[in-house]
Amino acid sequence: EARFEQAESDARAQKVFQASSVCSIQQWDSDEPIPRSELLAGVAGKHGLLCLLSERIDKEVLDAAGSNLKIISTLSVGVDHLALEEIKKRGIRVGYTPDILTDATAELSVALLLAACRRLPESAEAVKNGGWTTWKPLWMCGYGLSDSTVGIIGLGRIGQAVARRLKPFGVKKFLYTGSRPKPESAVEFQADFVPLTKLAEESDFVVVTCSLTPDTKGMCDKDFFSRMKKTSVLINTSRGAVVNQEDLYQALVSGQIAAAGLDVTTPEPLPTDHPLLSLKNCVILPHIGSATYATRSAMSVLAANNLLAGLKGESMPNELQL
Ligand code: NDP
Ligand code: DGY
Repeated sequence: EARFEQAESDARAQKVFQASSVCSIQQWDSDEPIPRSELLAGVAGKHGLLCLLSERIDKEVLDAAGSNLKIISTLSVGVDHLALEEIKKRGIRVGYTPDILTDATAELSVALLLAACRRLPESAEAVKNGGWTTWKPLWMCGYGLSDSTVGIIGLGRIGQAVARRLKPFGVKKFLYTGSRPKPESAVEFQADFVPLTKLAEESDFVVVTCSLTPDTKGMCDKDFFSRMKKTSVLINTSRGAVVNQEDLYQALVSGQIAAAGLDVTTPEPLPTDHPLLSLKNCVILPHIGSATYATRSAMSVLAANNLLAGLKGESMPNELQL
């Protein structure tokens, strides 16, 4: 028996389960997040759990599930919502959804970067509210990618896909940081591995595409922003907690950096009265990096197949190495 928390009515994923006689499904059949109490009650005694990144799968949930639980399949590549140490200790296997969402997320990262550096939302708003009076030489000027230096925090699957898409815009230099140099990935972009401080100081655009870990939490903070150029732009499509939002607000309001684009925030959703939302030089999206129909459908099918393979004791299409 397995529990399937459904974020979307994905017919293809449903068919995967229907075609399999491996398990019976108990499903949270709504686009709204499952109430915690429902999750805790529903998971009891189950062998598998298919979850979303909006649910914290922590000790409380694992205890509520009990010793039957052997497989967790998450509809995400990010796994920061899972208590991995605790999961590993209990011998539970984890399936996740890398690769198939890389293109969509990289594409959105580029869209967000262009929106922030060329002031697209602000400009579009001016057309609607009468702010557009005439053509003026410096009105709505921003910063372009030609001849720029782009710093990628986390040259992983998505970081590389972002660099690949930005290169044809005429980027002069790529820098990257991470836990170790990755010459095999960097060679395509002739990217230099640098310390975080140097990346902050030299980049015209900083794109955050790392995973959220204890090491990366709050990595973009006051010190980081104080090193960035006044003309530089920060883009975050990883997880909100990599950026210290109070420090970012100060950096944006004081002109320490030019602009920011965030697809991810803390918390999610960001309260509508959050100070960052009052800034014209901050573009905020509601965590839509992987949100194309094709990608979400592929993610759902993969998550279903991960779960089924795990329940059958087979190797999963994408198993996280714990
Ligand atoms: P990868 O595992 O391929 O890449 C993660 C990168 O993070 C690695 O290159 C890793 O570098 C880097 N990293 C880890 N620790 C550090 C550190 N201390 N400093 C700098 N970099 C570090 O994952 P993906 O590219 O597939 O996904 C990355 C993240 O993007 C996900 O974990 C998820 O949180 C987020 N995401 C967001 C989406 C959205 O909708 N906005 C959609 C999809 C993913 P190294 O190997 O050197 O440690
Ligand atoms: C992930 O997969 O981690 C994203 O944040 C959503 O696709």
